[in-house]
Amino acid sequence: MDARPRFLMTDPSAFEVSYRINPWMDPAAWTAACADRAKAASADLRHALQDLGAHVETVEAVRGLPDLVFPANAAVVLDGKVLLARFRHPERQGEETVFRAVFARLKARGLISEVVDLPEGMLQEGAGDAIWDAQRGHFWAGFGPRSNRASLGVIRRTFGQEVVGLELVSDRFYHLDTCFCPLSGGQVLYHPEAFTPDALAAIRERVAPADRIEADAAEAAAFCVNAVNLADTLVMAEAPASLRAKLKAQGYRLVEVDLAPFIRSGGAAYCMTLRLDRASAARPVILAAE
Ligand code: ARG
Repeated sequence: MDARPRFLMTDPSAFEVSYRINPWMDPAAWTAACADRAKAASADLRHALQDLGAHVETVEAVRGLPDLVFPANAAVVLDGKVLLARFRHPERQGEETVFRAVFARLKARGLISEVVDLPEGMLQEGAGDAIWDAQRGHFWAGFGPRSNRASLGVIRRTFGQEVVGLELVSDRFYHLDTCFCPLSGGQVLYHPEAFTPDALAAIRERVAPADRIEADAAEAAAFCVNAVNLADTLVMAEAPASLRAKLKAQGYRLVEVDLAPFIRSGGAAYCMTLRLDRASAARPVILAAE
C-alpha cells in the first residue's frame, strides 16, 4: 500500500475571475498578469505538497469553467467513497460532469472505490463544506450560503460517520473551509465571526479551550484558515505574522505560498486541492524528524 497522501489539483490554464458568486470576486480587476501569476502560484502549491511527499493527480483545465481549480468543491471523499457535489450557482454547475468523469477514471485506476450521487435537488459543495476531523473521527459540515442543511444527513448515511453541522452566516466565509480547519494535533483553527451562535456552541462543546486557535478578521481574509495540514506542517497562503506566531507556538511548521490570484476568487490552499486517500481509521501522527 502506498502511504503517501494523494491530492487532486486542477491545471490552472483556464482560471480567471469572470463572474462574481462571492464578495471576493471582481471580474473588472482581473488581468492577463493575474492569469500568469496564477499559473506560477498553482505550480508552487503543487511543489510544496510534493516536497512533503504527496502525490498530485491533475484535472485538465476546461475553458469557461474557471473555478474548476477548486476541486475541494467536487466531492466529499472518505474511505475510498466519493459523494459527488452539486453546486448552488449555475456558473459552477458545469463542473459536475467534468468531475464525474474524473472520478470514474480514478475508480478505473483503483484510486477510489465507489461514486455516490446526492438526492435530486440537494446542494452540497464537497469537501469545502464537509471537513473530516481525523482526531475526533467525525465530519464538520458547513451549510447555509452554499450547501443545504439536509446534506448533513446524506453525508452521515453515505459514510456511516457522525456529522456535526455548522451554520455559516457571513457571505465572505461561504464555505466551511474558509473559516474552519481541524489540525492534526487536535486543535481547531477557526474564525468565530463566520458562525451562528449555535455553530459556535457546537465547536466549543467539542473543542477544549486550549485547542481553539482563533483567526481574526485579517488572518481569515488572508485565506490562511484554508490550509492543507500534513502531520505537523500547514501549507497555506502567505500568513500575517500574528498567525504565524500562534501556530508556531502550538508546534506547527508553516509552508507559505503566494496564492494571491486565487484569493481573488475566494479560495486558497485547501480548496485548490482534494485529498483522495482519507481513511476514517487513520489517526494523524506527528512525525518526529529523522
Ligand atoms: N470562486 C469559487 C466559488 O465562489 C471559490 C471556491 C473556493 N472554494 C472553497 N472551498 N473555499 O465557488
